[in-house]
Amino acid sequence: MRVVRTVAQLREALDYMRQGGHTPVGFVPTMGYLHEGHASLLRKAGEKSNTVVMSIFVNPLQFGPNEDYASYPRDEARDLELAEREGADIVFIPSVEEMYPQPTLTKISVSSLTTRLCGASRPGHFDGVTTVVNKLFNMVQPDYAFFGLKDAQQVAVLRRMVSDLNINVEIIACPIVRENDGLALSSRNVYLSAEERSQALVLSRSLKAVRQAMDEGAVRTADEARTLLISEISSAPLAVIDYVEILTFPDLEVLEPGSPLTASGSEIIIALAVKFGRTRLIDNNVFIPK
Ligand code: PAJ
Repeated sequence: MRVVRTVAQLREALDYMRQGGHTPVGFVPTMGYLHEGHASLLRKAGEKSNTVVMSIFVNPLQFGPNEDYASYPRDEARDLELAEREGADIVFIPSVEEMYPQPTLTKISVSSLTTRLCGASRPGHFDGVTTVVNKLFNMVQPDYAFFGLKDAQQVAVLRRMVSDLNINVEIIACPIVRENDGLALSSRNVYLSAEERSQALVLSRSLKAVRQAMDEGAVRTADEARTLLISEISSAPLAVIDYVEILTFPDLEVLEPGSPLTASGSEIIIALAVKFGRTRLIDNNVFIPK
């Protein structure tokens, strides 16, 4: 495994792999503090590619002024152990100066899809994501790029960017990895106190409950689903709801409040963002209602 810190070193390492015939190239972009969710992306990349590139970069552009950029958890030594163990060939760890040697005057912005869900609560966040991912795609020029459905809106936005701009990469969406008790893995889970951690289970529990209620016919419309989710989540005293939304996926369009969910005819997303203390957690379910 090669660890590179500059774009020039990255290009040299990639040229070497490509000249040796080690293609296709699979790419897993991350912000580090790696866990089993990231590991699952590396494994998937390993199945589909002969060179696996991972980037670790906490991207200042995608954090708001009052968000956790400065305190975002970092542990490079542990990340490198995981990357090596999970078969990464090249790990790219640029500094902020390497990624942004001058203030960026060029930004990539996907409209409409970014106005809802996390886009509404985190203004500018997705412009930061699309700008950095576009830069990383230009640096790595991967055949495949692997993203987790934990951040389902990110997948929808990046797919649209790739399609709108004819970027020559296939985005592969991978399932959410959870703890045994259901909590979706996140680098931010380390911020939770024991009490918050235990109450945070309400996210996966409420998603499960609404799916079950839909299967049993007790919930038929987006409005009914939303009401059930809000009442389930509110049973956790520390939970402060940021949003609870049921939309079409990947277009993220609002569903008719009174019409049956089965009428959507396509995949839908049930998406939640809930704060516990200063930690904001997200979770979701993407599925075709039956
Ligand atoms: P980060 O939060 O580090 O996540 C990197 C990738 O891991 C994303 O595709 C994310 O969806 C995926 N991931 C995180 N938790 C997961 C889980 N529990 N199960 C499955 N996949 C999971 O997302 C980012 O970084 C950044 O926005 C980035 C794309 C790197 C751009 O800066």
